[in-house]
Amino acid sequence: MPFPVRKARPADLDLLAPLRAALWPDASLAEHRDELARILEGRPLSTLPLVAMVAECAGGISGFVEVGLRSHADGCDPGRPVGYVEGWFVEPAHRRKGVGRALLAAAEAWCREQGATEIASDTWIDNGGSQRAHEALGFQEVDRCVNYRKRIGDAPHARGRRST
Ligand SMILES: CC(C)(COP(=O)(O)OP(=O)(O)OC[C@H]1O[C@@H](n2cnc3c(N)ncnc32)[C@H](O)[C@@H]1OP(=O)(O)O)[C@@H](O)C(=O)NCCC(=O)NCCS
Repeated sequence: MPFPVRKARPADLDLLAPLRAALWPDASLAEHRDELARILEGRPLSTLPLVAMVAECAGGISGFVEVGLRSHADGCDPGRPVGYVEGWFVEPAHRRKGVGRALLAAAEAWCREQGATEIASDTWIDNGGSQRAHEALGFQEVDRCVNYRKRIGDAPHARGRRST
């Protein structure tokens, strides 16, 4: 394989957290470190399995993919869990050289090992480059949507919390 891809391990935390923060800048680096540490230790916040894979380059990591299982995804067979690309990022200097393809191939292999027969993903509506990359790697667009959220209550631990 031209770009070695392997499962990420706890020792990757310092190099990987900034890449994650570059992909999802809404969260702080500290928040990314906390969430990532759990994934690297094999205890992600998700109820279904979730792993991170990294592409190695001289002196570091050029990109990562976070891939997990979801109980369902738009356009996929609702009768079985589906692989899901939760995050996919390659450092700008390493793009358009096949790193993203190698990461996706590793993600697909992991999903097959989990018993999935489909893999799904999403990207932002204004991210044309990512859309082209998904299509180049065999993804078919199944939907375009607007996501909403509305808070309808407090989490149980917040309701019962007392100061000591
Ligand atoms: C999307 C991303 C991970 C692709 O990584 P990459 O290493 O550049 O991808 P590759 O070089 O392996 O390219 C894979 C295929 O996608 C195509 N592709 C990649 N970026 C493209 C772009 N901007 N425009 C058109 N095609 C593109 C390549 O041509 C290639 O197809 P080919 O082999 O048929 O030529 C990378 O661009 C990235 O990190 N983008 C910012 C973060 C992001 O948008 N992530 C996805 C949403 S979570």
